[in-house]
Amino acid sequence: MEIVLTGKGGPEMLRVAEGSKPRPGKGQLLVRTEATGVSFAEVQMLRGRYPLQPKFPFVPGYDLVGRVVGTGERVVALTRTGAWRDEVVIPAKIAVPISEDVDPGVAAAVAMNGVTAWEMLHVTAKVRAGQTVLVHGASGGVGSLLVQLARLAGARVIGTASAGKHDLLRSLGAEPVDYRKGDVTAQVRALAPDGVDAVFDHVGGKSLDESWSLLAPGGVLANYGSAGTLRDSGHPLRPYVGTARRMAWWQLRRLVGMTGRRRASMYYVKPGAGFAKALTEVLRLVAAGSLTPHIDRRMPLTEAAEALTLLSTGQATGKIILEA
Ligand SMILES: NC(=O)c1ccc[n+]([C@@H]2O[C@H](COP(=O)([O-])OP(=O)(O)OC[C@H]3O[C@@H](n4cnc5c(N)ncnc54)[C@H](OP(=O)(O)O)[C@@H]3O)[C@@H](O)[C@H]2O)c1
Repeated sequence: MEIVLTGKGGPEMLRVAEGSKPRPGKGQLLVRTEATGVSFAEVQMLRGRYPLQPKFPFVPGYDLVGRVVGTGERVVALTRTGAWRDEVVIPAKIAVPISEDVDPGVAAAVAMNGVTAWEMLHVTAKVRAGQTVLVHGASGGVGSLLVQLARLAGARVIGTASAGKHDLLRSLGAEPVDYRKGDVTAQVRALAPDGVDAVFDHVGGKSLDESWSLLAPGGVLANYGSAGTLRDSGHPLRPYVGTARRMAWWQLRRLVGMTGRRRASMYYVKPGAGFAKALTEVLRLVAAGSLTPHIDRRMPLTEAAEALTLLSTGQATGKIILEA
């Protein structure tokens, strides 16, 4: 069984299909899916706005947790597409073995999202105790983990979200800002007059200029998405060209010492040794009870269209998990 995204539009473009029996070739594994995530990337793909947009029809599914057929070993894999199947063939090199003790839904909730949050926090921004950080979209799958990881690192966290999700932010230890009320910069400045040490920005476009203006000397802007340009027209890569231009400009100014040691970078999660290391760290925190992914709900894989409706209309907080 598989979920096929048949074309551009709304969640009605998703179909449950029989699919053919996948057979692993050399260097590949057949994995029986236990849990797979629903993410903003699928919302973009549905609208034809993902930067590396696959051709329709295709099977979405950015990450999965499942058991290798033949050995029974539990693995996590970052697939980018193709995980919304009950059985998935993956390259063996992207499979990260994980413990039997972790719940598959919890592992799926921290697979792509937890690694993204951990790497941006500890590798890109190197956030330290006593610093102040701004997390945009703090109620979302990545954002809610970023808030928790930043708090664990000893940072003060300001988070943006729609007002209905502010209680969740407070419960995670963040000071909420309503981005829909407008003038996010002024609202953040009121809380942190000297600026912030890191901003995690998934909004893109003009938000990047505002995020940059909020940085204290030595601060870091980590951009990892373009949620604010979902309704734009034109080529889906266009907003990222604008982002790359901004990055180049700030880098140039940094090289000539004009940014007060502020820096900006773009983050993109990818499989490999870094992913495995970060996932191990994140799962260790989960096992210790220090990090708890906020799972909005678990749904059967066959209800992927309903799940995507909930995520794309802002009705979900944290992560929606599909179970096969
Ligand atoms: N670069 C990478 O490697 C990487 C990896 C993973 C994810 N991402 C990106 O990370 C972002 C979050 O992904 P996710 O799966 O966690 O999505 P999600 O669960 O849907 O969370 C997104 C959050 O962003 C908020 N939001 C939506 N539009 C916004 C806007 N215009 N301005 C400010 N906030 C806005 C929403 O808050 P409200 O519901 O409160 O309105 C929502 O909670 C996406 O942009 C995704 O593309 C990037």
